[in-house]
Amino acid sequence: MIQIEGLQKVFNGVTVLLDVNFEIQDGETTVIIGPSGVGKSVLLKHLCGLLKPDAGRVLVNGTDIVPLSERALSPIRKQFGFLFQGAALFDSMTVFDNVAFPLREERKFDEAEISQRVEEALVIVDLFDAKNKKPAELSGGMRKRAGLARACVARPKYILYDEPTTGLDPILADNINDLVLRLQDHFHATSVAVTHDMVSAYKIANRIAMLHEGRIYAVGTPQEIQTTTDPIVRQFITGGGSTQEAKHGAVSIH
Ligand SMILES: Nc1ncnc2c1ncn2[C@@H]1O[C@H](COP(=O)(O)OP(=O)(O)OP(=O)(O)O)[C@@H](O)[C@H]1O
Ligand SMILES: [Mg+2]
Repeated sequence: MIQIEGLQKVFNGVTVLLDVNFEIQDGETTVIIGPSGVGKSVLLKHLCGLLKPDAGRVLVNGTDIVPLSERALSPIRKQFGFLFQGAALFDSMTVFDNVAFPLREERKFDEAEISQRVEEALVIVDLFDAKNKKPAELSGGMRKRAGLARACVARPKYILYDEPTTGLDPILADNINDLVLRLQDHFHATSVAVTHDMVSAYKIANRIAMLHEGRIYAVGTPQEIQTTTDPIVRQFITGGGSTQEAKHGAVSIH
């Protein structure tokens, strides 16, 4: 379990996170929603110690990671896989080597084991045939899938996804959502995904938390969020990429 208590983060005098409190339950997929610039990526980076807060605690399995040095953080960070916003692959490496990277960093697998694990991950994300390609040769969706394979290849306890579907067409986005669900099923990871894509949020989340003005403003199941009457949540979910109208048959095609 990850517990976030009183998290505050200020950049150059601007408070991005004011007082964030919430818990991420093991085995669940928690989706953090909120408009662009609200601090979703910043919050996600605090969960594995990539950013340090100005105040507050981040407890990973009961250990506060905030005061830990990089060296002390290292074994904890190995429990995390991270899909960064924009995938952030290494351009000079093939897909295979990108996906192998977290395993090589661990220095505990021989090349045969690395190959076997990388190939298993590439099959899951349907990229086996692209394993010798470089990121520049891939489409946006393929890059996301390579990023997903890299995030899960070391079978981390926690997988953090930053905007796994943003910028993809609806069919590709749905493909990625299916993959996130499949990875969850396959590796039983605890996942935290950040997105402003509500279709994806409803599909992959067990719980949805909305970040608003530096706090977790609302938490609920997808159904609770979808049916809430709270005006601030409603404004975001209906103005922020929801398919409410489409679901209710408001679209007519000529
Ligand atoms: N390293 C940094 N240094 C200074 N300011 C930062 C840094 N990282 C983020 N910020 C600022 O923090 C705020 C929140 O950024 P963040 O990237 O978390 O937003 P977001 O909710 O993920 O937005 P988006 O949906 O567009 O990805 C922004 O104003 C951003 O400029
Ligand atoms: Mg972001």
